[in-house]
Amino acid sequence: MFSYTLPKFSQQFLIAHYILICSRSVLFNGLAHLEVRCWLSQKRVNCFGVLGRRYGLAYHCSMELQNDLLLRVLKGEQVPRPPVWLMRQAGRILPEYRALRAEAGSFINLVRRPEWAAEATLQPVEALEVDAAIIFSDILVVPEAMGLPYELIEQHGPRFPKTIRSEADVRALIFGDEAAQRLSYVYEALQLVRQRLAGRVPLIGFCGAPWTLFCYMVEGQGSKTFSKAKAMLYRQPELAHELLQRITHTNIAYLRRQVAAGAQVLQLFDSWAGALAPQTYQEFAVPYIAQIVDTLRGEVPLIVFAKGAWFALAQLANTRPHALGLDWTVTPAFARTQVGPKIALQGNLDPCALYAQPEQVVRATREMLRHFGIRHIANLGHGVYPDTPLEGVYAFIETVKVWRYSHHT
Ligand code: CP3
Repeated sequence: MFSYTLPKFSQQFLIAHYILICSRSVLFNGLAHLEVRCWLSQKRVNCFGVLGRRYGLAYHCSMELQNDLLLRVLKGEQVPRPPVWLMRQAGRILPEYRALRAEAGSFINLVRRPEWAAEATLQPVEALEVDAAIIFSDILVVPEAMGLPYELIEQHGPRFPKTIRSEADVRALIFGDEAAQRLSYVYEALQLVRQRLAGRVPLIGFCGAPWTLFCYMVEGQGSKTFSKAKAMLYRQPELAHELLQRITHTNIAYLRRQVAAGAQVLQLFDSWAGALAPQTYQEFAVPYIAQIVDTLRGEVPLIVFAKGAWFALAQLANTRPHALGLDWTVTPAFARTQVGPKIALQGNLDPCALYAQPEQVVRATREMLRHFGIRHIANLGHGVYPDTPLEGVYAFIETVKVWRYSHHT
């Protein structure tokens, strides 16, 4: 078995062939089996081949989605129940993740080796039976590709030894496709995951939103106040815009490559949105999110999750994403009044609710589902915390999976 991306000419040939035959399979000399399913919108055919004994190559693609709940909600279609997945579903809640991380030696090693990253991505799909996979990586790989390497300090979180202080620092950054090219390990992991998922559930790619990445690049680590990052907005707004624009160009190139490698949905994480005032968020965050959504929305559905930004929901809705993620501080009714009827809402149970007894988790989850109604993607209001009991996680997922809108109208 090997993985092979067909050259452009062959892709076009295969696509033309597919349109001609309009069916699932073709036999090559009785040996090779060719199956190309509708992946035409992505203009790419990603095959894994088996060497036939006498006649060379055979391709087999099994890319039709068996569980397309997430994609259907994002398209605005009606579904029998909401899809469910968890932010940070791959990670320390799973014993198999902890074993893999021990084998890798560190989180960063795990992220950089496609084989391991693919395994970590698939673990929650298998263990938790969620309705989507999210590629195992981190938002911090983008600043790294731009020239600021990060480290992850146990019990403390990420740290950047080198940060952005001056115009010269911004000018020295690598950006756009040149930076995105350096993340080939993410694209390889995405390709591996798509092959191994074989259409079981859709695969989500992601990146950090420009403002959140800006925070890490200026601040060097997480912060309670983000005063260094915010100081740049107030003291050197032009420099701040230049840095945000460079991050945006890099994000766009990075996400495009993720889509080409097999990501079927994209999520932007604006984890530090809540550090800004509404007008500052409007000036320094929203326009860059809008550029990303505008450029990519024709290719795949996008979800924007801006944590703490209840005040910006209407502004974010104007950027026209397919869904907006909500943290637990917002009621579904408030969010609907801000974003209108068309955009799907994702969230938003407090991750701490999963610490309760499973029966209480079931009650809280049902209440959440009732309040959201349709156009909803069930998730938590932030990433699942590493010490969350697995019973709580299972109770949450199971409650969504047995829910039927038809029983609750
Ligand atoms: O399952 C998934 O959601 C995919 C994987 C994923 C990770 N990080 C893996 C990870 C995703 C989508 C992220 C996004 C991310 N990373 C965000 C945005 C979401 C959010 O939480 O607000 C942020 C702010 C980061 C930056 C980051 N990475 C922090 C603050 C930390 C340390 C905190 C922690 O949880 O330890 C990380 C490390 C990290 N990223 C881990 C994982 C599984 C833990 C690494 C480990 O110890 O094994």
